[in-house]
Amino acid sequence: MSNEVVLKCTDIKRYYQQGPQELKVLDGVEFSANRGERVAVIGSSGSGKTTFLNILGGLDSPTTGTVEINGINIHDLGDKKMAGFRNRSIGIVYQFHHLLPEFSATENIALPMLIAGVKPGEAREKAERLLNQVGLQDRADHRPSELSGGERQRVAIARALVMSPEIVLMDEPTGNLDSRTAKEIAALMSELNQISQCCFIVITHDMAFAKTMDRRLKLDEGRLVSIE
Ligand SMILES: Nc1ncnc2c1ncn2[C@@H]1O[C@H](COP(=O)(O)OP(=O)(O)O)[C@@H](O)[C@H]1O
Ligand SMILES: [Mg+2]
Repeated sequence: MSNEVVLKCTDIKRYYQQGPQELKVLDGVEFSANRGERVAVIGSSGSGKTTFLNILGGLDSPTTGTVEINGINIHDLGDKKMAGFRNRSIGIVYQFHHLLPEFSATENIALPMLIAGVKPGEAREKAERLLNQVGLQDRADHRPSELSGGERQRVAIARALVMSPEIVLMDEPTGNLDSRTAKEIAALMSELNQISQCCFIVITHDMAFAKTMDRRLKLDEGRLVSIE
């Protein structure tokens, strides 16, 4: 991990209007992360974890406040630039894999590259390399329905990393797995973090998993606080 800041959030607020009331889901989140850093985010259900991650990934906008990735204020980008920026700089892994059912493991991993205009042969080669790194070289042609839960998450993680993004956002990536598989995925993530130098921001309920990260933060009453 270096001390080069890749992500900086300043005073993020996200309010929802609920009839006459204002629901203050995020209420002044300050956060920054370095290149290659692994940060765990915990918090009770409904505390705003997914809202926070969606704002970091440009899928939602804050009511006020800014998110800078590599010095770029991402919510200032228009929709088209945002899509390109997300494709290159942000990888996302969800609790449920969100792989495309009609495509093989290799094709799912190659997709972000094809969207970015990488030549198909080159995209396939890189996808196969990633497939090796996540230990699924003998599942290359399997569709998601022909993979186990843990294998699907491995493919989803490979897809998130294939563009060598600055940051990878994960929303409870092991939440749907048994504890042994969750442990294997956690170990794999540490390994990939070392190789890739991507910054990982991971929402999790699994404290053992969180303890393997560089830093643990908690969303509480709309703010992000250190729990060390
Ligand atoms: N589109 C929305 N409109 C109104 N309230 C919302 C919306 N999305 C989320 N919320 C509320 O924001 C709070 C935080 O949600 P969420 O970020 O999904 O929490 P977590 O991921 O920590 O469980 C919840 O109380 C939820 O009901
Ligand atoms: Mg959530």
